[in-house]
Amino acid sequence: MKIKPYFQTEDFTLYKGDCREVLPELERADLIFADPPYFLDKADWDKSVSREEAYAFNESWIVPCIQKLKEYGSIWITSTHHNAFAITDILEKHDCKVLNVIVWEKPSGFAQHPDLNFTNAVEYAIWATKGDGQFFNAELMKKLNGGKQLSNVWSLPSVNQWEVTCGRQVGQKPLSLLSRIILATTNEGDTVLDCFSGSGTTGIASNLFNRKYVGIEKEEESLELSKARRLEINNETIRKSYISRVMEAIATDADWKDVVSEMSKYRIEAYSKKARIQKYSRDYFQENKEAIYERRKAKGKPSNQNVIWASATFKYKNQVCFYEGQYLPFINLKTKLKNTDKCKQYLLPKAEQTCLCIYEGVEYEFWQLCHILRVERKMADWAEVALNSVIK
Ligand SMILES: C[S@@+](CC[C@H](N)C(=O)[O-])C[C@H]1O[C@@H](n2cnc3c(N)ncnc32)[C@H](O)[C@@H]1O
Repeated sequence: MKIKPYFQTEDFTLYKGDCREVLPELERADLIFADPPYFLDKADWDKSVSREEAYAFNESWIVPCIQKLKEYGSIWITSTHHNAFAITDILEKHDCKVLNVIVWEKPSGFAQHPDLNFTNAVEYAIWATKGDGQFFNAELMKKLNGGKQLSNVWSLPSVNQWEVTCGRQVGQKPLSLLSRIILATTNEGDTVLDCFSGSGTTGIASNLFNRKYVGIEKEEESLELSKARRLEINNETIRKSYISRVMEAIATDADWKDVVSEMSKYRIEAYSKKARIQKYSRDYFQENKEAIYERRKAKGKPSNQNVIWASATFKYKNQVCFYEGQYLPFINLKTKLKNTDKCKQYLLPKAEQTCLCIYEGVEYEFWQLCHILRVERKMADWAEVALNSVIK
């Protein structure tokens, strides 16, 4: 191969360049995902062009992609209504079979012309295969959907704060969207190729679920961001927390016991909603008090042996969370905490001394969790949850 990788680990390879030039150099892939320019003037690489130019551009990269797809492999292409029909046309013209057009319903649609038309609240992900067969992980998809066949309308969050710790890219897709696509249409060990790699979301989702990744991207800044994101998940705690957050987003109405056993191969520990309640119930805390204190001591934290500890589970934005900590500060807070500002004043200093929390399966010092929720602008909600659910 003539072209040298820009960055490479054993399961993550990035090439720098125009995908139309790089693609012919690459091996064939089991799945291709592409999130191309939509020509909506959102970035330098997204400048609007005529309908004919857009069509020609799309054909110029879709055709080499199809050539690099293994027989029965899946190709997924995201779009809005501006180019969805042209893309399905090109795919069918070049002997691909369009199996579904997924409607990704985003929580925050953008209202551009409130008096002229409807809010645009969806994007599409077109799923097609090369040849007359496909790999579809039907059982897992059903399990993640409470035993029912999942429909082609996916309500998934937009990109969250927790997935932009290394920076953000215009047009970045959420890990949950890519994870569902990858889990649905690949097996472990398969190779996933993304020819508009951007911040590397496809690569991160691939690697979280033990698939190999090859990405092509022309902008250095995006390549650096992808590299940082890949290095970040070398940290096992971060990797697990990402898997856990992704699973919470994509497992709608799931029977969690099933999901946990199914997903244990991805090293999600007992993070499920049900398991978490069991594992971190008050009883669990009582039984494991000594071990918890020891762990804190080993980390150089005060062990708080002399204070009353309490634990509680509660629902936060439809997720069951666990709180374990000193009881008394919350009683004080009940009377003192009235609004978000006070919440900052009272929660943070006290929390710093004492509390441990499990949030979405990850253990935090309470102040860290407060910080995360504050950065994510969820502080008011958090305060409400703390007052209404924990104190009762
Ligand atoms: C919509 S963004 C992809 C975002 C990505 N899915 C993510 O989650 O970060 C499109 C990316 O394609 C890149 N790009 C545009 N034209 C390209 C081309 N001809 N070859 C390679 N990359 C290209 C842009 O620099 C941009 O980073």
